[in-house]
Amino acid sequence: MSISAKLILLAGSAFLLSALAAAGDDPASVERGRKLYLKYSCGACHGPEGRGGIKNPNAIGGEVPPLARVREGYTLAELKEKIEDGFPAVLQEDPDGPEPPLFMPAWKKVLSKKQIDGLARYLMSLLPENEMEDWE
Ligand code: HEC
Repeated sequence: MSISAKLILLAGSAFLLSALAAAGDDPASVERGRKLYLKYSCGACHGPEGRGGIKNPNAIGGEVPPLARVREGYTLAELKEKIEDGFPAVLQEDPDGPEPPLFMPAWKKVLSKKQIDGLARYLMSLLPENEMEDWE
């Protein structure tokens, strides 16, 4: 193989590796997160694979938000913070109406940093980069 062919190969694999890293693609963490999502019943409120559809009367939109598209609105760090701190009060559609029954628990006392990292990476992986919507 010529030197230049080797260089092209090298550049190609470096590109692939950096593309994977950019996607936050860490298969072991994603898999850890997928298992935790099942174990801690995130899906009871957010639906299987974060697809939503769970009613939450008088919450904005009347449902617990789906998680399958969080990648469009959150960075990995922001997502971890949301999971750690939860949301003590859900925004109400009718401020004078009843309190929505489901709220987001804080997980920082239940799960380790490594587990929360796995969950956040799993949620990010639910929306592949090529399916992200262009808002421009
Ligand atoms: C008891 C129901 C319940 C469970 C269980 C639950 N959540 Fe939530 N979650 C909510 C509600 C309700 C909200 C919306 C809070 C708000 O906007 O006021 C929410 C919001 C979120 C958000 C922010 C979504 C957005 O679009 O802003 C993330 C991320 C999230 N949850 C992740 C998780 C993960 C991960 C788990 C499991 C470890 C989990 N949730 C378990 C009820 C739940």
